[in-house]
Amino acid sequence: MIVANAPGRAEWLGNHTDYNDGLVLGIGLQVGATVTARPAGDRELVLRALDLDETCACELDALSPVEVGSWANYVLGVAAGFLSRAAKAQGLELEIRSTVPMGAGLSSSAALECATARALQRAWATNFDDMELAQIGQEAEHTFAGVRCGLLDQVTSLFATRDHAVFFDCRSLEVERVPVPPEARFVIVQSGVKHALSDGAYNERRAECEEAARVLGVGKLREATMRLIDEAERSGRLQGAALRRSRHVVGENARVATAVEALRVGDLVKVGQLMDESHESSRTLFENSCEELDFLAAEARTIPGCLGARLTGGGFGGAVLALVKHGTEDDFVEAISERTDRARGGVPQTLVTGAGGA
Ligand code: GLA
Repeated sequence: MIVANAPGRAEWLGNHTDYNDGLVLGIGLQVGATVTARPAGDRELVLRALDLDETCACELDALSPVEVGSWANYVLGVAAGFLSRAAKAQGLELEIRSTVPMGAGLSSSAALECATARALQRAWATNFDDMELAQIGQEAEHTFAGVRCGLLDQVTSLFATRDHAVFFDCRSLEVERVPVPPEARFVIVQSGVKHALSDGAYNERRAECEEAARVLGVGKLREATMRLIDEAERSGRLQGAALRRSRHVVGENARVATAVEALRVGDLVKVGQLMDESHESSRTLFENSCEELDFLAAEARTIPGCLGARLTGGGFGGAVLALVKHGTEDDFVEAISERTDRARGGVPQTLVTGAGGA
């Protein structure tokens, strides 16, 4: 029997930068997915999601996506990725458990993909490095779930270590683990608005970024600069959504780089400011926020001990990530719950965490 784990992740900074070949900063969470693998019938893959009490059985030689939105697609997609890389696969039963809230922007799907990838690596005795495993997970999203995501989620999940943030350059594929100052705590406040990236808004944003890059004459928005964007705006070539999306991505890349420098000198106040700016940029330029997320981020910032707050992950719902000073997290949770309760008649679910991972 093989037991493999992978954590959920929170995007600390770098919103929709990954598929633009940009920079991201993520943390692993203390919640995650666990996949237990046991040998099964010759060419069969049997999946059991224990929390949902659902089962799905497939032939290894005929793996294809099941219904849209099913958890099974992430597991099947990863298995298909192993097979397409010539893994010598044998029948398996995979038992799945997860403590990552679903639809909350914390990448329950990547945690599942990465735990599956780690389990299959051992069960099928393959030797992929962690970046390849991350790419297999990303491929599963593209081909089995229809979301053209970047690598932020899978890389953060696989590379996360305790008390470190994962700084990832999506162009060079370099990963650096940056120590998180001990006085940092994170509170994830769920908006209650379910986000489903498979509903098309995510892919639409990606297409707008690609269009902006085309107009700017660069391969990916990573290569663009504010100056290039200003010129394209002045000449009337870049307008509307493409203009706003490109400003957001270029701004986010700069914010990630600045935040990493601030972290190196322990300046959490600066990192908090960058988080606030990032949320504003998502709200006004990338337009992937929503009323509930704006409300939570604005309220969070007024609570003593909170250094900054922003939406985390794909957006259009999901959660807000607040950076708070160690020691204030309990009061923060109480205050945000109270205010949300008064304003909206429902207490949000919160998760307090340090940077988690292996
Ligand atoms: C989702 C995707 C990631 C990334 C974020 C936004 O989590 O899966 O690849 O694009 O949204 O930064």
